[in-house]
Amino acid sequence: MDSGKQITFPLMLCVGTAVIGSLQFGYNTGVINAPQKIIENFINDTWVARYQTPISENTLKAIWSIAVAIFSVGGIFGSFSVGVFVNRFGRRNSMLLANVLALISSALMGFSKTASSFEMLIIGRFVVGYYSGLSTGFVPMYVGEVSPTALRGALGTLHQLGIVVGILIAQVFGLEAIMGNRELWPLLLGFIFIPSVMQCILLPCCPESPRFLLINKNEENKAKTVLKKLRGTNDVSADMQEMKEESRQMMREKKVTILELFRSPLYRQPLLVAVVLQLSQQLSGINAVFYYSTSIFEKAGVAQPVYATIGAGVVNTAFTVVSLFVVERAGRRSLHLLGLLGMAGSALLMTIAMALLDQVKWMSYLSIVAIFAFVAFFEIGPGPIPWFIVAELFSQGPRPSAIAVAGFSNWTANFIVGMGFQYLATACGAYVFVIFIVLLLIFFVFTYFKVPETKGRTFDEIASGFRQSAVTGGEKHEELNSLGADSQL
Ligand code: GLC
Repeated sequence: MDSGKQITFPLMLCVGTAVIGSLQFGYNTGVINAPQKIIENFINDTWVARYQTPISENTLKAIWSIAVAIFSVGGIFGSFSVGVFVNRFGRRNSMLLANVLALISSALMGFSKTASSFEMLIIGRFVVGYYSGLSTGFVPMYVGEVSPTALRGALGTLHQLGIVVGILIAQVFGLEAIMGNRELWPLLLGFIFIPSVMQCILLPCCPESPRFLLINKNEENKAKTVLKKLRGTNDVSADMQEMKEESRQMMREKKVTILELFRSPLYRQPLLVAVVLQLSQQLSGINAVFYYSTSIFEKAGVAQPVYATIGAGVVNTAFTVVSLFVVERAGRRSLHLLGLLGMAGSALLMTIAMALLDQVKWMSYLSIVAIFAFVAFFEIGPGPIPWFIVAELFSQGPRPSAIAVAGFSNWTANFIVGMGFQYLATACGAYVFVIFIVLLLIFFVFTYFKVPETKGRTFDEIASGFRQSAVTGGEKHEELNSLGADSQL
């Protein structure tokens, strides 16, 4: 087998260990959905014990919203500080360090009931949000940097697979019969210490990113040794050659701070693409489903909304696996386009189902189909691709700053949807998904005109494609596309 496409054990160990961070992010995204009522009861009990009077409905709603949304606020801060960590400590050690946060958060949330303190729960959600923000930068960066070019998309999709499996595990664990009950909910939230300990044990067995070793640390021999292990061959000259080319380029670029990233015309185009792709992921409305699916299904007349929610989690996972297998064949651009269009169609179906619910009884089934299709199309492209494409769009110099800015955009949009959806749903009723249809179509047009194909091209080829178009001032996508079009998995 061509060593450029070989999945070796050390490579799988690196990627598998890194995506535990993605799993944690997904788990904390999904965990808060099912046990809402039970934790609200706890907040009320605490309130009564402190103030000898039951909590008012508005205060309870506010505390709950803060507990949910502060996770993305943590994510905003975490994603923005990615660059500081990875440049100072390296990729692997940054992931190791971040686990301190996961463990602190686990203790805060796990003991909040014992300590009768919902404040601990809220702080814990913030801390694990910070951890997740860091993870959404660390994992795609590390995975992108250890993967061979021909497998970068497929392995990059494993970050998203980790996230969706995390969401699904949280949905299942959150069932009343498992941990979503009065006694065990602290364990449900505190559970994150287990993946955290696992990652702490496995990470020391994983090497530092060879790109970091060579390009940032100038440790050529170490980089070579790591590459030989990862590729399972002694001949790593092609990889070394490519990394050195990127390194030479970086010398010319020098260090790129976030400010410089915004100022330089060289990065304007890839930065715009990176940010809009993140926005397309979040403003597609996906987290309206993952935060509020149970209540959406309830409104759509579904009898067992919790099981429909788990169904959405299963479809979500299944289609991420589909994307994993097709992303190196079909390419990023076409899958993203297909996903956005499919989501718009599904959102339209959802709107019809909600609007006709009173007249036509079986519309509740249509709404289930529509939500499942919405989620499936999301995972075909808009779910996984934005996460790993940013590492592809930038070379080693600007990569950490670019990932920080992209992550920041993603988490901010995540926060807006998380906070705003319930209000929008009240204001627009059955037509709330029309907003997402419009946004999805705008993102479709943007992707069609502005996003180049990155499949099968080295980091350096992609960066020089953007450099050329910055120099000529034009968007020569056809040229860019043809560069690596014939590479197949
Ligand atoms: C993506 C999004 C995340 C969302 C998940 C759903 O990873 O970034 O916010 O919850 O997909 O699968």
